Amino acid sequence: GLCNKHTKITDLNGEVPHTAHSLDAIPGPTNWPLVGSLVELLRKGGLTRQHEALIDYHKKFGKIFRMKLGSFESVHIGAPCLLEALYRKEGSYPQRLEIKPWKAYRDLRKEAYGLLILEGKDWQRVRSAFQQKLMKPTEVVKLDNKINQVLEDFVGRIKNINRNGKIEDLYFELNKWSFETICLVLYDKRFGLLQEEVNEEAMNFITAVKTMMSTFGMMMVTPVELHRSLNTKTWQDHTAAWDRIFSTAKVYIDKKMKRDTNRAPDDLIGDILHHSCLSKKELYAAITELQIGGVETTANSMLWVIFNLSRNPGAQRKLLEEIRAVVPPEQDPCGKHLKSMPYLKACLKESMRLSPSVPFTSRTLDKDTVLGDYAIPKGTVLMINSHALGSNEAYFEDTKQFKPERWLRENSTINPFAYVPFGIGKRMCIGRRLAELQLQLAMCWVRMLYFEIVATDNEPLDVIHSGLLVPNRELPVAFIRR
Ligand code: HEM
Repeated sequence: GLCNKHTKITDLNGEVPHTAHSLDAIPGPTNWPLVGSLVELLRKGGLTRQHEALIDYHKKFGKIFRMKLGSFESVHIGAPCLLEALYRKEGSYPQRLEIKPWKAYRDLRKEAYGLLILEGKDWQRVRSAFQQKLMKPTEVVKLDNKINQVLEDFVGRIKNINRNGKIEDLYFELNKWSFETICLVLYDKRFGLLQEEVNEEAMNFITAVKTMMSTFGMMMVTPVELHRSLNTKTWQDHTAAWDRIFSTAKVYIDKKMKRDTNRAPDDLIGDILHHSCLSKKELYAAITELQIGGVETTANSMLWVIFNLSRNPGAQRKLLEEIRAVVPPEQDPCGKHLKSMPYLKACLKESMRLSPSVPFTSRTLDKDTVLGDYAIPKGTVLMINSHALGSNEAYFEDTKQFKPERWLRENSTINPFAYVPFGIGKRMCIGRRLAELQLQLAMCWVRMLYFEIVATDNEPLDVIHSGLLVPNRELPVAFIRR
């Protein structure tokens, strides 16, 4: 019955008009009045298990399904052909789902928007100012020294707090490591987060980011205008956290701007500060959001690399052999070494496939778009599920196994649109190159030169969704000194 509903739609890219099914024909879970699928989702384990529910739905309904949670409706796509279609039809300014609480704060304080929330031509202007430096491998690789500087401290820290191989709250340590690295890259400033005594300023900064992140989810599902007019605790905490983030970031950006133009060649951000046509406010916002986007994502990916290596000693051994063959013992690993480390890169890719940090991203369609058999109207929110793609047998055989080798086969049949941990198209992660460099160098350091990572149990590890995918218990690993 449903499939008989046809609409005539002209694809704006000038494709021959053809007949496609309408939005209503897309299959999906129970859609009750008012609540939609919320009850079903809650029965399946709630929002912290939504990544599993979504995979189930993709299994049940296939490449595309439609779901309503309360009044929020979205169309989920989890097949390379649909991602490719979306990519080919992408306009100049792709849009993600709005983060209204962040916008509300900026509007309140008359601050600008950064890349995470900008739209249209303004987004493109800011994006291209940063893109030239951040997405160019020959530029990003210049940061290897800064990254190593922090890694050296990180390794020292892990040695110091290592108790019979166990590291208490490894995730927090990794977050401090990536925070320290991003801040060094963005502000040219060491915060000292890896020292034994963390100073107050640094601790305030890191807690402010934490508070900001933990208070905005609530205002994504309930109207932010309401929080603002009632001055709820959530709104107050959120605003106060942003105030602290912005005031700290501004101090260091201002300092950087005042410095002369004889900058070091690895000062990518200095170049942008001095040569872009962006206003001061735009720079504050853009740089602050780079920091927000870069900290926990990188730490989380490293956590999963550590976990996957602990459970796959064979891969770990092979990785060690490669590192030993390429990086001379008296040298720090650098960009040049990484060029001859295909296995290391494959291990990272495989870890990000098997244990993605960001399970999905979104697009709000800015025009009617035909995807597969369906004509999807402008304004629809699409969820692009990289987690579902990476765990689908149709695209990756032995999907549950960690097999770096799959990325190294000469006649590999892996569809590039099946692996999208950094998103796709013009709006993909702008920190991708930086994150990859940071993670690859970290794998050389932590793992190979000093420690063996061993699994302390072999029980399955439950994963929960809390913005990113995180383990639901302390990681069962130990770092054993070689
Ligand atoms: C966007 C993942 C590291 C800054 C994104 C998106 C994903 C993602 C999935 C959405 C892309 C899309 O919608 O197509 C990751 C992962 C990381 C990582 C898995 C680490 C392994 C970083 C770093 C930075 C960063 C280090 C900062 C230097 C951003 C920004 C955006 C973004 C600013 C928004 C870009 C735009 O809309 O123009 N990231 N990211 N990310 N990421 Fe990352």
